[in-house]
Amino acid sequence: MDQLALTDDVLALRAWRMPDMVVYQHADDEWWLTPLDDAVPLVRVNRAGASLLAAMDGQATVGSLLEKFGNRACGAGGETGRACLERWSLPRYSLCYYGAEVPAQDRGEARWGLLLLKIREGWSASTEFEGAGHLADFHSHDIATHKDHFEVIETTVSHLFREPTAALEGLTYGRLLAHNFRKLGWWTRKPRTIVEVGGGLGYVARELGKGLAPEEREGVRYVFLDITRPFLASQLELGKEGGWHPTGLQANGEFLPLKDASVDLIVDNENMADMTPVKLSRQEAESGRGATPLHQEALDWIRRAGLSLDKDMPAEFIFNLGPLRFLREVWRVLKPGGRAFLVEFGIEQGWSAPVKLPGHTEYETHFGHLRQAARWLGFQEKYGALPQFLGIKPDTRVLCTGAAYAIRRFCEAEGRPFAIRAYTEAEFTQTLGDMLPRLLGHHYHDISDPAWFGLGDFKVLLLEKPAAAPPPKPQIKDVKGFRWGGMR
Ligand SMILES: C[S@@+](CC[C@H](N)C(=O)[O-])C[C@H]1O[C@@H](n2cnc3c(N)ncnc32)[C@H](O)[C@@H]1O
Repeated sequence: MDQLALTDDVLALRAWRMPDMVVYQHADDEWWLTPLDDAVPLVRVNRAGASLLAAMDGQATVGSLLEKFGNRACGAGGETGRACLERWSLPRYSLCYYGAEVPAQDRGEARWGLLLLKIREGWSASTEFEGAGHLADFHSHDIATHKDHFEVIETTVSHLFREPTAALEGLTYGRLLAHNFRKLGWWTRKPRTIVEVGGGLGYVARELGKGLAPEEREGVRYVFLDITRPFLASQLELGKEGGWHPTGLQANGEFLPLKDASVDLIVDNENMADMTPVKLSRQEAESGRGATPLHQEALDWIRRAGLSLDKDMPAEFIFNLGPLRFLREVWRVLKPGGRAFLVEFGIEQGWSAPVKLPGHTEYETHFGHLRQAARWLGFQEKYGALPQFLGIKPDTRVLCTGAAYAIRRFCEAEGRPFAIRAYTEAEFTQTLGDMLPRLLGHHYHDISDPAWFGLGDFKVLLLEKPAAAPPPKPQIKDVKGFRWGGMR
C-alpha cells in the first residue's frame, strides 16, 4: 500500500479529519473507520488512534501530530501514529486532509462533499474518455453477479426507495409509479404489453405490480429487457413476486429486438446514462462532418432533429447518442397510443458531464436534446423533476447516504445485515438496534439537499405516441449536396 512521505513541506501543512466521517466503537478500546475506497480494509484504531483523529482539527500541523503521536501505537494492531499519518490522507483512505487552507472555501458547507467527489474521481476511474463502447462492454462483460451491485457500485433512487418507507408515506418507488400511472389515465385501458428496459434487480417491477390490483395486472405481458445477463434472473424472480408472469430478454436498448408497433408501455428507470456517449469536437459540430461513422450518426441527429447546441461550445463535448437511438426505438416499437416512462439524472442545457462510478463512467442525459428529438419524432411529451412527480416532501429527513455506506461496512464486519436504503430516523433506529449507541458522526439530510443523493438532478420524461400516428418520417438522405425526402 502506498504511503505519503512526510517531508518538511507536508509536516508544515495543517490536518483536518473529514467531518462527515462515521466512527464505530467495536470494543472498549477499539474504534473502526471506513476508508473511502471499499477495497481498503476497515481502519481499526485504539484510544490513542481515536485521539490522533480528534486532534486533526484544522489547527494542528502534521508535524505537531507526528511529534505527539508518531511513536505511539495508534492502530488496534499496533500500527504507529507515523504509519497512520503516512496513510490516512491518501485518496483511497480520505480519512483526513492535509493543506494550507480549508479546501474550496467558496462553496460553504458543500466543500467537504466536493473535496470527496474530487478525490473519488481521482481514484475510481480514468479521467480520459473511455470510448463509446465502454458502457455496453462494462454491462455485457464486467458484471459477473447481481449480488450487491446496487449496494456498492451504483445505488439508484428506486433502489433507495424499494421498501415501504415513511419518506414516501409508507409506499415504495414502484407503488408510487402505479399510483401515478393510474392518475395519468395510463390504466384506463390497461396496457397489454409492458417492456421494462434496464430493470436492475427487478424491484420497480415488483412494486409496480404490488401497487396494482390483480385485475389491473391480469392478462398483461411483462417483458424485461436488459443488456446485463446476470440481472435477468433477479428481475424474473422479483417480477413474479409482484404478480406478473414475466419473460426476460438480453439485449441492448439502443437496438430493441421487438416488432414495430408491438408494445403499449415502456418503462426505463435510471438507465439512459448508461447508453452510448460520443465525444464530438467543435470542428466536427461546425462542419457537420464526423471523423467516424458513429460521430456522423451523432451529427446527423443534431442536424435532422434540429438539436440546439449552446453557443459556448467547448473544443470537445459529450453527446448522448445512445439515449437518442433508444428514443427512436421506443417510437418504432410503441403502438399508436402507446406510452413511455423515462427517468434519469441529467441536464436541460449545456454539456453533459461524466459521473465516475466504480468500474465505469456514466454521462448526464441531455433532456433538452431528448425532448427536442422526441417532438421531432412525433411524440407528445411531458417533462418534470422526479421528486415532484413522486410528490416527495422536500424537508423529509433521511440518513446521509455516505454514512449508510460506512455503516454497511461496519455491519458486514460484525456479521450483521444492513441494506442501503433511504432511512428516516425512526427506521434507522429500529434497523440498527443495539449498534446505534456505538455509532458516532452519522447524520440526516433533508431529502432535497443535493448532499443527500442529488435527487433534484433526476428528471421524468413521459411520452405518448399519438393514437393516429402520422406516417413514418420520410428518410432524408444527402445525395450530391441535395436533401431528398424519401418518395414512395
Ligand atoms: C443504473 S441501473 C438501473 C436499474 C433499475 N432500473 C433501477 O431503477 O434500479 C441500469 C440498468 O440498465 C441496464 N442497462 C445498461 N445499459 C443498457 C442498455 N444499453 N440496454 C439495456 N439495458 C441496459 C443495466 O444492466 C441495469 O439493469
